[in-house]
Amino acid sequence: MPSILHINASPRYGSSDSLGLARHFIDSVQSAAPETFELETLNLFDDDALPAFGRVAASAKMAVFTGQEQTPEQMAAWEAARSVFDQFAAADAYVFNIPMWNSGIPYALKQWIDIVTQPGWSSVSTRSMGTPVSWKGSWRWPSTPAVSTPQGSRQCSVPTSAARILPIG
Ligand SMILES: Cc1cc2nc3c(=O)[nH]c(=O)nc-3n(C[C@H](O)[C@H](O)[C@H](O)COP(=O)(O)O)c2cc1C
Repeated sequence: MPSILHINASPRYGSSDSLGLARHFIDSVQSAAPETFELETLNLFDDDALPAFGRVAASAKMAVFTGQEQTPEQMAAWEAARSVFDQFAAADAYVFNIPMWNSGIPYALKQWIDIVTQPGWSSVSTRSMGTPVSWKGSWRWPSTPAVSTPQGSRQCSVPTSAARILPIG
């Protein structure tokens, strides 16, 4: 059964416009698809949704870069990051809902990117993006399509340049 990993980068849950749009999009894909998708949602702002990627994890990463052996503490941090990556790598397709925060992305999504982007695991490309993944409530790009949702007509933004993260291998 194909699987979709839905990454919710809004902490506003029931009030979130981008989450409403993502759910509408996923429902539309499900109803148009010839078979049922397995759907998993990662709410990035849930407590304990993500392990920290700080002093220990960063030093674990640098140990990999420099060919050093990781300490037990670093290995534990590395395994915690790996479990987040494994969830990402296991999915066949991804849906992200990403509110604009101060002309960028919410910090929890950047944390997720910093966790899954590791040597030999995945790489980040800023050249192109395969699927429209974000919508901005009060901010619109010119010539973007309107999308009809249960909450009414929404302007859907498709950034021309966005990060694409690809599992390696
Ligand atoms: C911390 C924060 C920063 C924001 N920064 C911007 C911004 O820079 N530009 C903008 O147009 N809207 C900004 N907004 C508004 C949100 O992008 C908008 O309300 C969006 O609908 C939020 O998505 P959500 O409803 O899925 O949570 C910001 C909202 C918050 C909470």
